[in-house]
Amino acid sequence: MLSNTQILTILGLSVVQVMGIIDPSLAKTPQMGWNSWNKYQCNVNETVIINTANAMVSSGLKDLGYHYINIDDCWSLHQRDNTTQRIAPDPTKFPNGISGVASKVHALGLKFGIYSDAGTNTCAGYPGSYGYEAIDAQAFSDWGVDYLKYDNCNNLGLAGNATISSKRYKRMGDALKNVSRPIFFSLCSWGTDDVWDWGRSIGGQSWRMSGDISDNWSSVVSITGQAVPIANISAPGGWNDMDMLEVGVHDQMTITEYTSHFSIWAAMKSPLILGNDITNMTNDIKNIITNNEVIAISQDSLGASVQQRSMKGNTQLFAGPLSKNGYVSLFLNEGNSTTNMTGTWSEIFNNPKANTHKSIAVRDLWAHKDLGRFQGSISVSVESHGVRMLKFSQQA
Ligand SMILES: *[C@@H]1O[C@H](CO)[C@@H](O)[C@H](O)[C@H]1NC(C)=O
Ligand SMILES: *[C@@H]1O[C@H](CO)[C@@H](O)[C@H](O)[C@H]1NC(C)=O
Ligand SMILES: *[C@@H]1O[C@H](CO)[C@@H](O)[C@H](O)[C@H]1NC(C)=O
Ligand SMILES: *[C@@H]1O[C@H](CO)[C@@H](O)[C@H](O)[C@H]1NC(C)=O
Ligand SMILES: *[C@@H]1O[C@H](CO)[C@@H](O)[C@H](O)[C@H]1NC(C)=O
Ligand SMILES: *[C@@H]1O[C@H](CO)[C@@H](O)[C@H](O)[C@H]1NC(C)=O
Ligand SMILES: *[C@@H]1O[C@H](CO)[C@@H](O)[C@H](O)[C@H]1NC(C)=O
Ligand SMILES: *[C@@H]1O[C@H](CO)[C@@H](O)[C@H](O)[C@H]1NC(C)=O
Ligand SMILES: *[C@@H]1O[C@H](CO)[C@@H](O)[C@H](O)[C@H]1NC(C)=O
Repeated sequence: MLSNTQILTILGLSVVQVMGIIDPSLAKTPQMGWNSWNKYQCNVNETVIINTANAMVSSGLKDLGYHYINIDDCWSLHQRDNTTQRIAPDPTKFPNGISGVASKVHALGLKFGIYSDAGTNTCAGYPGSYGYEAIDAQAFSDWGVDYLKYDNCNNLGLAGNATISSKRYKRMGDALKNVSRPIFFSLCSWGTDDVWDWGRSIGGQSWRMSGDISDNWSSVVSITGQAVPIANISAPGGWNDMDMLEVGVHDQMTITEYTSHFSIWAAMKSPLILGNDITNMTNDIKNIITNNEVIAISQDSLGASVQQRSMKGNTQLFAGPLSKNGYVSLFLNEGNSTTNMTGTWSEIFNNPKANTHKSIAVRDLWAHKDLGRFQGSISVSVESHGVRMLKFSQQA
C-alpha cells in the first residue's frame, strides 16, 4: 500500500499544495498584501508589479506578513485566445505573460494574485470567467496564481437573491477546488445578496461586505457601520472584507483618519490589502502600515472580530477577545472635536460576570506604551476622527 504522501509524490503534487485545497488553512488569519487598483486602476504592467514586489521585501512589509502581490482589472486582451479559449494576457503590459510575472514574484518569497469576474466581462470590459470557470481556473493554476479576486460586474442579471448569486460564485469555487494549486478565493460581490451567509459554503475565504471604498473619511465611517451587525461572521477560514486599504493612496484623509481606518480594519479582521505606492511612502504612512502591535491583533490566532459594545453620541466602543485570554478594545471618535471616552469592564468584556474590581494591565498599541493597571474602567482622550487601541493582557 502506498501512503497518501507517496501517491501525491507520484502525481507530482506536494503535500502542502494538497492540504491547501482540502482545508481552509490559506485563511487562518485575514490575508495581507497589496493590490494594484486603488493607486493604478488600469495602468498596470509588469514593471509596476515587480517594483512593488521588490519594495514589499526591501521595506520590511513582507516580514510583517504582507504576502500577496495582486493584479486587479485590465491585465488581459479584450478577446480570449482563439485556440485555448484562455484569457490572453496583454503582451504589451505583461511581455513575459502572467506566468512570467508570477515566477518573479515567487522568487522574492511572495505570493501572486490575479483578478477576474463572475460575469461575461470584468468591470473595465475585459473577458470575465462566467461560462469559462474550469478553463480559467486551470490557466490560473498553470500560471502559478495563488489568489483570485472575483468581481461582480456584467453578471447577466444573475443576482438579486442569495440562491442565484451563490450559484454563480460557486461555479468558480468548484473549479478552483478542482485544480492542483491552492488558490485563495476572494469574493468581490459588493456585500449584495447576504454574501456573508453563503460565501464560506461555496469556497470563498473572504467576501466584500460593502460597496467600493473611497479615499475619504465618510467612506470609512460608512463601511464600519455596515460591518457592525455582521462582525461575528468573520472566523478562521472566512472573513468579512471591508475592501482594500486607502492608507496613503491619494492623501485624501489625515494621518489620524488613516490610523483609524487601519485600526478598524485590523480589529474587525478585514483583509489588510494595501493600495498605496509602497515604492514611495512617507514615514507617516509607513508608520501606520508597519505597526506590528496592530498587525498582531489582525493576525491573532483566535480570529474573532471586535464587536460594538456601546455608542454614545459620535463615539463608539468596540472590544473583543484575543488568544491567550487577552482582549482588545477600540475607542472610536467620529465627532469633530476631541472627547474623553470611558469603557467599563462590563462593557469591554461584555460579560455579565465581569469582575469589575479586577485590576488589569493595559497597553496602548499606537503609543507602544504600557499605561499601567486599571480597576473597573478606563478613560481615554480620543481626538476627532481618531481611535485609541488598547490591549488587555487578561479578561475581567
Ligand atoms: C508601467 O506602468 C507605469 C504606471 O502606470 C508607467 O509609468 C510605466 O511607464 C509603464 N511601463 C511600461 C514599461 O509600460
Ligand atoms: C481571435 O480571432 C479573431 C477573429 O479571427 C481575431 O480578430 C482576434 O485577434 C483573435 N484573438 C486572439 C487573442 O488571437
Ligand atoms: C431568486 O431569484 C430567482 C430569479 O429571479 C428566482 O427564480 C428565485 O425564486 C429566487 N429565489 C428566492 C429564494 O427568492
Ligand atoms: C474538473 O476537472 C475536470 C478535468 O480537468 C473537468 O472535466 C471538469 O469540468 C472540472 N470541473 C469543474 C467544476 O471545474
Ligand atoms: C468620498 O468619495 C466618494 C467617491 O469619490 C464621493 O462620492 C464622496 O462624495 C466623497 N465624500 C466626501 C465627504 O468627500
Ligand atoms: C451573530 O450575532 C447575531 C446577533 O447580533 C446572532 O443572531 C447570531 O447568531 C450571531 N452569529 C454567530 C455566528 O455568532
Ligand atoms: C513620491 O511621493 C511624493 C509625495 O509624497 C511625490 O511628490 C513624488 O512625485 C513621488 N515620486 C514618485 C517617483 O512617484
Ligand atoms: C463634522 O463636520 C463636518 C464638516 O463641517 C460635518 O459635515 C459633519 O456633519 C460633522 N460631523 C459630526 C459628527 O458632527
Ligand atoms: C478630559 O478629561 C481630562 C481629565 O479629567 C480633562 O482635563 C479634560 O478637560 C477632559 N476633556 C474633555 C474634552 O472633556
